[in-house]
Amino acid sequence: MLVFAASDKGGSGRSVTSCNMAYRRALQGDTVAYLDFDFGSPTAGAILDVPVAEHGVDGSGLHSYFTRHTEARQLDTALHSESGAMRDLPSVSSVGRLVLLPGDRGGGEFAIGRDMPARCAQLFLRLDREFDCCVVDLSAGRSYALDLVLEATARPELAKLTTRWLVFHRWTKQHIVSAHGLVFGEKGILHAAERYGHDPRTLNESVRYVRTAVVDLGVDQESVTRAPQGAWLRAYDSKLREQADRLRMGRARLAGQIPYDPMLQWSGQVIDDSDVRGLRIANEATVQSFEELAARLSDERFWEGL
Ligand SMILES: Nc1ncnc2c1ncn2[C@@H]1O[C@H](COP(=O)(O)OP(=O)(O)OP(=O)(O)O)[C@@H](O)[C@H]1O
Ligand SMILES: [Mg+2]
Repeated sequence: MLVFAASDKGGSGRSVTSCNMAYRRALQGDTVAYLDFDFGSPTAGAILDVPVAEHGVDGSGLHSYFTRHTEARQLDTALHSESGAMRDLPSVSSVGRLVLLPGDRGGGEFAIGRDMPARCAQLFLRLDREFDCCVVDLSAGRSYALDLVLEATARPELAKLTTRWLVFHRWTKQHIVSAHGLVFGEKGILHAAERYGHDPRTLNESVRYVRTAVVDLGVDQESVTRAPQGAWLRAYDSKLREQADRLRMGRARLAGQIPYDPMLQWSGQVIDDSDVRGLRIANEATVQSFEELAARLSDERFWEGL
């Protein structure tokens, strides 16, 4: 399965959420590859706590794979991460694995050369055979990376692969509008996809949305929120929900809603069960939402045509 993680805006929570989703998927028993296609700023290694790839790797990352035809480096997080969560993964799940394919250190955006879509398709085919789930973290907005994967996935050799799209956005008016524009806008994913030979309706059926860093309006919040503030938050939340419904980004298309978590705000990392139950520095609801999002990826009923 290929999972494309997209967002219109930077700082939307796309990478932090995707890394946590990938980790949860591995805990659930999948072999997972995490491809850092954020070519302008390849920092997935920092989230996964892989020091050798904190800001990409030297000359053997995905930039080099595309621009210099080298092999793409694969870093198993059980061996290369300093995070206890990922080091312990093999003992918690005997089959699950999380492998990072980093970008290049200092590598920036590059224009798509003629051979790149075929090379990209080759990479996806190979990884799809090797891994249960491949998460592709794309640069924000309409980027070269986005065009590259749209062109690659339109190729006939990829027609049989299961492909999902997750569009991440913060729970604000501005982010909802911009995420909608990324998918449906004149220069959005669906129009671009059509130009590369995709059927836009079929592609749209594989798009779901993830709301990130959403303030929890539940019982706990009541005790720390002043009454007028709580009332305003609830009223505004329902306005945002109406807006999302109008833009075809409502509940039926919602793959996940990740609560705001102070630990993530500051650390932007993978949360481990011991952060919740042992150290108690992260919230249970956050981990639960990552687990649910991860499980949703293979919930066929959820991905059936709407
Ligand atoms: N659930 C959350 N609760 C609180 N803060 C969060 C949450 N998710 C992400 N963040 C914060 O938002 C910041 C941006 O998240 P992230 O790096 O995942 O965004 P991005 O969309 O990948 O951005 P970019 O396009 O720049 O790569 C993180 O550094 C983290 O501080
Ligand atoms: Mg990112």
